[in-house]
Amino acid sequence: MYLKQLELNNFRNYRNQVLEPGLFLNILTGQNAQGKTNILEAIYMACIGNSFRTSKEKEIINWESDFSYIHSLLQTEQSSLQVNIFFKQGFKKIEVNGSLKRGSPLGWPGLVLFTADDLVLVKGSPQERRRFLDLELGPFNTQYGHSLASYNRVLAQRNNLLREIRQKREEDGSLQVWDEQLCRYGSKILHIRLELLKKFSPLLRSLYRELTGGKEDFDIRYKSSLVLEGLNTEDEIYRKFQHQLYPIQAEEIDRAQSLLGPHRDDLVFFINGRNARIYGSQGQQRTIVLTLKIAQIDLWKDELDEYPILLLDDVIFELDNDRRQAIFRRIGDMLQTFLTTTKTEDIGFSKKLNYKTYMVSHGEIIGS
Ligand SMILES: Nc1ncnc2c1ncn2[C@@H]1O[C@H](COP(=O)(O)OP(=O)(O)OP(=O)(O)O)[C@@H](O)[C@H]1O
Ligand SMILES: [Mg+2]
Repeated sequence: MYLKQLELNNFRNYRNQVLEPGLFLNILTGQNAQGKTNILEAIYMACIGNSFRTSKEKEIINWESDFSYIHSLLQTEQSSLQVNIFFKQGFKKIEVNGSLKRGSPLGWPGLVLFTADDLVLVKGSPQERRRFLDLELGPFNTQYGHSLASYNRVLAQRNNLLREIRQKREEDGSLQVWDEQLCRYGSKILHIRLELLKKFSPLLRSLYRELTGGKEDFDIRYKSSLVLEGLNTEDEIYRKFQHQLYPIQAEEIDRAQSLLGPHRDDLVFFINGRNARIYGSQGQQRTIVLTLKIAQIDLWKDELDEYPILLLDDVIFELDNDRRQAIFRRIGDMLQTFLTTTKTEDIGFSKKLNYKTYMVSHGEIIGS
């Protein structure tokens, strides 16, 4: 899929702007605070339906206006999609080819985004990596979202009940039904995560090697709060979960917390056998995140026979030239990419690379 045309009206610092991007690499250059990221935000909104920067959508309406719209024309392998989003204070309307849409405009993300905030994926707490599993890997399985919603509901109720039991307002026995549900949905989630990672890992390993010119090895491991040895079916995970839950019941009541399950799990990234969160350099950590993002592109292509759009916000020019060139060799002629940078001088791309440059200044694209 690619973006054929984008029209912004009163979107952030853009009053009226039309952009007709190139099929491959599109570089948005300009000084700080000119409107580069705003363009990525608008493309993101057209595909996903909301912003990656704010949940308060009134913020995106230009300060001197009381409404805003994004008109975008997207071309997939099969069809053209006109996605129009209209905003007024406290009101948003999304139309796809003239029909009103609630939620996701495309039915799949349609893009992969990498901003500096994503570096927490390696550096941050386990919660960040679970967010990645849930929001970026989960969508590759149609059951995942539903199972996760059920699991989170059960988890909240079970935690409430643990608190009640601790305060002697409920009997221990009342846990049984929630234990069963926790294990049921928990084993589904765990099983899907492990299956997805089984598919994802070889891709990540070979991509990481490619991006580092074969100099570094990468590995990813799922670290579960449960003891799961060897390969497990969903049924086996269920039984192991139940089996391990009972002995910790007293501690769970004592802490009024559910201590086992996918909500306590983590991913560990390794470079040349060492934990990248602890020992990885900034560039290595950045390369890991990039690998996780580019691998998603390959998976979407596999799944839907469609490339998503790639958005890279200020994350490429901090890498050394070798890594940067390897990335462009990998994605250059493959899919539509939008990249922002403050570098206005010659950015040293090879002439062979198919790219277009746009200069962004004061909420206008002033040249390409
Ligand atoms: N609702 C709004 N109305 C008008 N201007 C806005 C609005 N929201 C944000 N801005 C302006 O948009 C500009 C920021 O745009 P953006 O984040 O795209 O900058 P950038 O070019 O990506 O900069 P950097 O290189 O620092 O990341 C700021 O000057 C900000 O004041
Ligand atoms: Mg920016």
